[in-house]
Amino acid sequence: MIETPRKRLTDITTQARRFMRAVWSRQLVQSPMARYVGLGIAAAVIMVIALAPLGSAMVESWSRRDVELRSRLIFRSIRDQVSAGLAATPGFDLRPFFERLTEDERILALGFCTESGELRYATKQMPASVTCNSLSRTKSDTFSRVVDHGRDIYVSVFPITSGTVSGHLLVLHDLAFVDERAREARYYTVLAVIGVAAGLGLLAFAMVMALQRSWTRSVRNAISEVRTSGGTMDVRPMRDNPIARELHGLLSDLRVERTYAEGIHIEWSPKTLYRLLVEELPGAEVLVVSNREPYIHNRLDDGKIVLQRPASGLVSALEPVMRACGGTWIAHGSGTADRETVDRHDRVRVPPNDPAYSLRRVWLTEEEQDGYYYGFANEGLWPLCHIAFVRPTFREQDWQQYKAVNARFADSVVEEAGRDDPIVLVQDYHFGLLPRMIRDRLPRATIVTFWHIPWPNAETFGICPWREEIIDGLLGSTILGFHTRFHCNNFLEATDRFMESRIDREHASVTLGGHETMIRPYPISIEWPPAALAEQAPVADCRKAVIERFGLPSDARIGVGVERFDYTKGILDRIYAVDDLLTRHPDWKGKFVYLQAASPTRSKLGSYAALQNETVALAEEVNARHGSEDYKPIVLSIRHHEPTEVFEIFRAADLCIVSSLHDGMNLVAKEFVAARDDDQGVLILSGFAGASRELSEALIVNPYDTHSMGNTIDEALRMPAEEQRDRMRLMRDLVQQRNVYRWAAQMLLDAARLRKRESILANAEARG
Ligand code: G6P
Repeated sequence: MIETPRKRLTDITTQARRFMRAVWSRQLVQSPMARYVGLGIAAAVIMVIALAPLGSAMVESWSRRDVELRSRLIFRSIRDQVSAGLAATPGFDLRPFFERLTEDERILALGFCTESGELRYATKQMPASVTCNSLSRTKSDTFSRVVDHGRDIYVSVFPITSGTVSGHLLVLHDLAFVDERAREARYYTVLAVIGVAAGLGLLAFAMVMALQRSWTRSVRNAISEVRTSGGTMDVRPMRDNPIARELHGLLSDLRVERTYAEGIHIEWSPKTLYRLLVEELPGAEVLVVSNREPYIHNRLDDGKIVLQRPASGLVSALEPVMRACGGTWIAHGSGTADRETVDRHDRVRVPPNDPAYSLRRVWLTEEEQDGYYYGFANEGLWPLCHIAFVRPTFREQDWQQYKAVNARFADSVVEEAGRDDPIVLVQDYHFGLLPRMIRDRLPRATIVTFWHIPWPNAETFGICPWREEIIDGLLGSTILGFHTRFHCNNFLEATDRFMESRIDREHASVTLGGHETMIRPYPISIEWPPAALAEQAPVADCRKAVIERFGLPSDARIGVGVERFDYTKGILDRIYAVDDLLTRHPDWKGKFVYLQAASPTRSKLGSYAALQNETVALAEEVNARHGSEDYKPIVLSIRHHEPTEVFEIFRAADLCIVSSLHDGMNLVAKEFVAARDDDQGVLILSGFAGASRELSEALIVNPYDTHSMGNTIDEALRMPAEEQRDRMRLMRDLVQQRNVYRWAAQMLLDAARLRKRESILANAEARG
């Protein structure tokens, strides 16, 4: 493009405008150059104000001394001639002689005062205000300043005697030249001071720039060393450079904190979680406490011991974390062969084929289990927190057992702790009192409690006869976690209503008896990639295997549900929905099968046993209504299913239904997504499960609305493969990023921050 003069002018104008804007904007004003020039000017102004009067005072005093000296010289040089003149005949006139002398422009006037005070021979310029009587005439020389019509005059008076005549010679100097000199002195002082200040400012600026350059070089070197060291804390190569070493430490800290805090950018894995522990919590001892153990040893009828992985969201989330972190997991030993497989300290290393951590088993009597586990935890707190319309039952003897068992677990924690400040991860509603009990005995422990089930609103929680004790127990924690912010808020509301505590809503913390507990949401998740996926056959083979195992029609479209037989899961409701689908969309008859894999759980309790019976009866009824000799729309598999089989079922399915009536998170939903590496399959998910907050690409349903759930099953069966893929990919990305290592990392990072804060406070206290 040719640059025309007009365009050039426009460019220059634009640049000039930009420059002016830059000057006015803080950019230039805040630049280091501007700062140093500004400082130089300020220093110069101060110096000028301080030095200028001093300079003119000095000049004045020098000039005065100069005038006195000159007056004396004049007097001495003319003394003899004046004496001779005075001694001569009377009438001799000295004036012409005096007039000649005043030709020197600095001598204003000369005169002679007689002994009687008469002024004689005064030259023409002698001011009228100067009279002999106005002057001090003594036997020695005197000097004085007189102002005549605004003019500064210096009068020197010298005694003189000649024969019989005596008197005083007056020499007058005009001091105007002194003012002139003082003004000049001031002017040159100002110039000199400004010059020196500007010079000093420039020198300081140059030095700062040089220093800055060397710092920048050090910073750059440190950054590149941090980069190349891959974040390890090895500072050996920088031993000789303290700046680089210091920066290296700071940058490493910053990098670690930022990347961890922004979590989403990290691919959380056992490795990154382990690194976090080493870097952020060096030397920390991790203890986990839960009721359900991760590995159960059972003796079969034929005498063989088998290992069982329990159906528990809590276990499937925490087990991979413990495999990554190591430490000790304290849990109830509930298997029939558990006692035979522990050492004399009731410990066993697990996983048995690749030991990574210790499982410490705690033995409970039947009476303890009845009161603490079945009674208070599962007939009281479980229905209370889930609001699934099963009446909570609270019995005094259950409460007593709950307290006693919590105390027994506190004993085990103290026994297992190798130091006085372990990190104790307390799990779930079985241990509402444990955090306080541990805090009382290990005050320096970092206790992170996670409540895996919902926390109801304050009114509902208020039903519990021991609500204050439970809240107090939980507030022994350092951090108390829930799946969602909604549950955190419910807890704060209950605390506000029932406890005398201080609630800080901005920081979401509660202070009770001087101890502060952070209340935080940590949405739980599953390991990624899931171990159970590792040995899975291709999807088509899984489908074939499932069809064969459960006797399904070979061309059936398959819906699945996998969970514990729990009334909170909405199992009956989804069978009603299938019934509704087949009634209103009969074309699916013979083509659609719903397979429910349900593990019996807590069967000792009436509500659970009743649910199982009711489900079996309902399935038979629906099958009778819509099925035939060789077609059963509802297939129940009521037994324990190991994780690999669960994943195989997920891979065989066209759709998966998770219709919880209320659920903290529900990890089955996330497992289904994780199992589908072919990006196919539709997830139908209850809006009352915490998982629906994250998996928004699922088809969200209200399990109480049978018609709409029936329609949603129809919609899922008709969903094109591309739409399934698009939805599944988004959900898989999310579960991959927000996996269980991230869940644990967020809690451990918060714990690390609080531990650092506490140690700073403790040090400050120790220093007094
Ligand atoms: C829920 C609870 C867990 C519990 C699991 C299985 O997920 O939050 O604490 O382990 O159910 O229940 P169970 O009573 O068999 O341990």
